[in-house]
Amino acid sequence: MQCIHTTDPSPSRSPLELTIMPRLTKETIGLGFIGAGDISILHARAIEKCPGAKLIGLWNRSQERAIQRAADFNCRNYETPEALVNDPAIDAVLVLTNLESHLEYTKLALNAGKAVLVEKPVGVSIAEIEEMNQIAKQRDLVVMPGHNYIYEAGMMRIRELVEGGDLGTICSAYVMYNIHHPEEVANRYPGVVRQILTHHSYMLLYLVGAPKKLCAMKSTLHYKEYQAEDIAMVQMQMPGGALAHFCASFAADDHASDPWTVMIKVIGTAGSARYSYRDHVEIKPGLVHSQTYTAYQGSITNEIRFFVEECLRRGTPPLSTLDDAITAQRMIEAAEASIAENRIIELS
Ligand SMILES: NC(=O)c1ccc[n+]([C@@H]2O[C@H](COP(=O)([O-])OP(=O)(O)OC[C@H]3O[C@@H](n4cnc5c(N)ncnc54)[C@H](O)[C@@H]3O)[C@@H](O)[C@H]2O)c1
Repeated sequence: MQCIHTTDPSPSRSPLELTIMPRLTKETIGLGFIGAGDISILHARAIEKCPGAKLIGLWNRSQERAIQRAADFNCRNYETPEALVNDPAIDAVLVLTNLESHLEYTKLALNAGKAVLVEKPVGVSIAEIEEMNQIAKQRDLVVMPGHNYIYEAGMMRIRELVEGGDLGTICSAYVMYNIHHPEEVANRYPGVVRQILTHHSYMLLYLVGAPKKLCAMKSTLHYKEYQAEDIAMVQMQMPGGALAHFCASFAADDHASDPWTVMIKVIGTAGSARYSYRDHVEIKPGLVHSQTYTAYQGSITNEIRFFVEECLRRGTPPLSTLDDAITAQRMIEAAEASIAENRIIELS
């Protein structure tokens, strides 16, 4: 898909993008959740807003939470993940468990003949994502990475401008994220390199393409016991010479004017573009955030709609594919190597 060269506005599309997958023609597409943690709340709201889709049921490892969430979402509670994936009422499965179990449940669903949306980070390693990709291709089923940020109109417009050459030669790209996460929330996740820079990586791929080299640093500033990093930054060079920068922080909210809560900028010789979470803010706590950033739910609502209407009904590939998830994982592993070895890493 998204390998746009920063000095060449004409995009080169991979063959996967042109692949048309099988379509579902049922009036109502049945969806099931494997995992019913925090993120399932946003996916359930998204399905409610998606015409022609229905949440049939869920399975969660702990029964207490499963019972509660099934009541909240007004859906079935399956006793096992096998019962869920084998129910003919379920056409596609959303894998919403922790990172380490994504491969297991994605395989389970694919082997039962079901399409999958799997949360990010898609896999623990490149090999895991490649395995999913191979089974999905063999079975002719879509596996859509939960790369939600790019399903926003503002992001699509930036890509369109870059792709059309309207911003001229791209000079720089920035993806900034500063959202405080309390330690008890953060310690359910890997550090921000995997948890948050994965978002940054697929966004950069979608907007301007893959970097050719990078270096990274990380630090831990506000946790008392959790050892993982709560802030990380990455510096990159693109094939055409442009530079890109990532910041991911759970350490503090940005309270200054025009904050970099989630801020994306692409600057070119003929124009520039930005996307910001601060365009819509509701003064009420949002899941684990101090305020509600409307775009968070909005991007997941758009993602689900794309999954159902485009991927499942029309056979269109996702805007960010498993091949992109592999490239994003390669960037994450390069950032980890850069941190560990204190050096610049070349990406082939
Ligand atoms: N797209 C986004 O913006 C976004 C935001 C937050 C989380 N996520 C992703 O969503 C996934 C879930 O995150 P969450 O915030 O809901 O976490 P959570 O801790 O609230 O829920 C995780 C769920 O997975 C279950 N689980 C854990 N280990 C399991 C195992 N080995 N087998 C089966 N079930 C297991 C737990 O019982 C729990 O219900 C993660 O992959 C995370 O990275 C994505």
